[in-house]
Amino acid sequence: MCGIFGYIGKRDAKRIIVEGLKRLEYRGYDSWGIALLEKGKIHQYRDISEISTNKRILDLPCSNIGIGHTRWATHGGVSKKNAHPHISLTKDFTLVQNGIVENFEDLKKDLIAKHVTIKSETDTEIIVRLIEEARNKEKNLKESIISVFERLKGRNTIAVLDSKNGKIYAIRNGSPLILGIGKEEIFLASDTLSFSPYCKNIVVVDNLEMVEIEHNSFKVTDLTNSKVKNVTVTKLKYLYEDIDKGEYKHYMLKEIVEQSNTFINAIAYSEKDLQSLSKSIKQSSRVYIIGAGTAGFAAGQIAYFLRNIGGIDAQDLRSYEFASYLPIVKPTDLIVALSQSGETADTIEALEELKKKGCKIASLVNMLGTTISRLSDYQFFSNAGPEICVASTKVFTSQCVWGYILAKNIVGDLKGGKREILTLAKELKTFFSSKNLSSIDEISKKLVKQEHMFILGKGQNFNIALEGSLKIKEISYKHVEGFAAGELKHGVIALIEKGTVVFGILSNDRDSKDILSAMEQVKARGAFTIGIGDKKFKKKDVFDRYIVTPGRDIASSITNVIPFQLISYYLSVRLGNNIDKPRNLAKSVTVK
Ligand code: M6R
Repeated sequence: MCGIFGYIGKRDAKRIIVEGLKRLEYRGYDSWGIALLEKGKIHQYRDISEISTNKRILDLPCSNIGIGHTRWATHGGVSKKNAHPHISLTKDFTLVQNGIVENFEDLKKDLIAKHVTIKSETDTEIIVRLIEEARNKEKNLKESIISVFERLKGRNTIAVLDSKNGKIYAIRNGSPLILGIGKEEIFLASDTLSFSPYCKNIVVVDNLEMVEIEHNSFKVTDLTNSKVKNVTVTKLKYLYEDIDKGEYKHYMLKEIVEQSNTFINAIAYSEKDLQSLSKSIKQSSRVYIIGAGTAGFAAGQIAYFLRNIGGIDAQDLRSYEFASYLPIVKPTDLIVALSQSGETADTIEALEELKKKGCKIASLVNMLGTTISRLSDYQFFSNAGPEICVASTKVFTSQCVWGYILAKNIVGDLKGGKREILTLAKELKTFFSSKNLSSIDEISKKLVKQEHMFILGKGQNFNIALEGSLKIKEISYKHVEGFAAGELKHGVIALIEKGTVVFGILSNDRDSKDILSAMEQVKARGAFTIGIGDKKFKKKDVFDRYIVTPGRDIASSITNVIPFQLISYYLSVRLGNNIDKPRNLAKSVTVK
């Protein structure tokens, strides 16, 4: 979703900002813009095409100060007029925003009643007009920004470029805001990835804090007491200088294949690292694992591992459904939040409410310096490296792997758990050989004309069925439904007719016989059946196609998702879809 970027330093701001916006584009955007300050004058450029250093950008003057924005439309369509930055009528300040002004209609009505001209359909422009109005009442720009910000409802973060003094002001409430402190330069952005080639030192701005940046210095003020804060500078572990596709045509395939390494990175935790969380889990009355989308399915998988390996009362909970659980949540319950971005609004809202209930929070996040990590008593990182494709692949399996070794640690067998994962990682390397990839591509050819497909899972493969179907939906735009095999006879079987594609996921466990019999039933009704899983079940009379996955027993469910990721990829390539940036989706869902 929307991304903010700001720069004051010694380099060519135009190049740094466009580059920063390109690194933010994975979050999802439909338009973008930049504003530069040169000799006291603001120069802007806004566009609805792909972010690039095009001729119009190159024609902008040289400058060392500026702000930029990637927009994911919420109020008003995708147009240059609605793109940010939104400049003041007197052109002396300009503003970008990430979030939604929930009381925008009321604020807009007030302005219209006062005959203020509104040029765009955005909630962002309303903020600009309100600041102009406040400033006319003899307040300076900084005070006007603060007073208007206090009137905004919802989660919003803004950055304002002031032409009069060459400063950038930014206030955070909800949507992320991070400072990058380099040598004679300061960056301001929605994530650390966007400025990561240039600096490792970061300051995470908290909610209701205002940042004031000028050349070589910055100040953070806590708006709740108007005091300047002593900030903590954190050092990032890595500088991600090159984020590129390497030998691959798309990030998605690169990230899928990387899993033979990310499995290993996900187990980089010792008994000591896991000790206090494991102890808290054992002492809690119940563990709720929460997340949304793919992270929600990983939550289901981890809850399964904690119940079935660790003997823990663990329940997965979709972040956006937390409210109906509030009446039964106890302060002695422990929450484990999963998130790739660490900034998902649904999950943050749930955590804030659950924290109020007195619950302790643990989290597993992939990005560094995020809100979800900061809300947590126990912070863990999935260490999967940047995941650029909007559809999550390697982070899902990293989350599952982490949950697996956590469950093993609870029963005192961390070493055994790690050994199994290392074996899986090794087998995965072989799995990604070209022979397997081309036979999966061949299967995807069969699916091009299908409009509806079904995936059956049970037990440890139930959430894998849900995640597998989400993966195919996201990129291929086909209707794929994952469901518990047990549901088949209770209604879903009515949808099966000659040629319907049905996948069945099988691990070497007690549920496999139920999946096999469900697959036999759909086959008897003419379905085209595809099996995924343990080689033991590769039966010609049940399956038209079968993909054998690495792994044995319980950990094998984690690798069972990989054929679905690959089918999603190859099918969508055949369909000519935008693989890394599927339509309508955003990588970081920072609004509700
Ligand atoms: O950043 P998060 O993991 O919290 O994001 C949660 C979901 O928005 C995310 O998993 C989404 O479903 C992805 N598009 C899945 O591929």
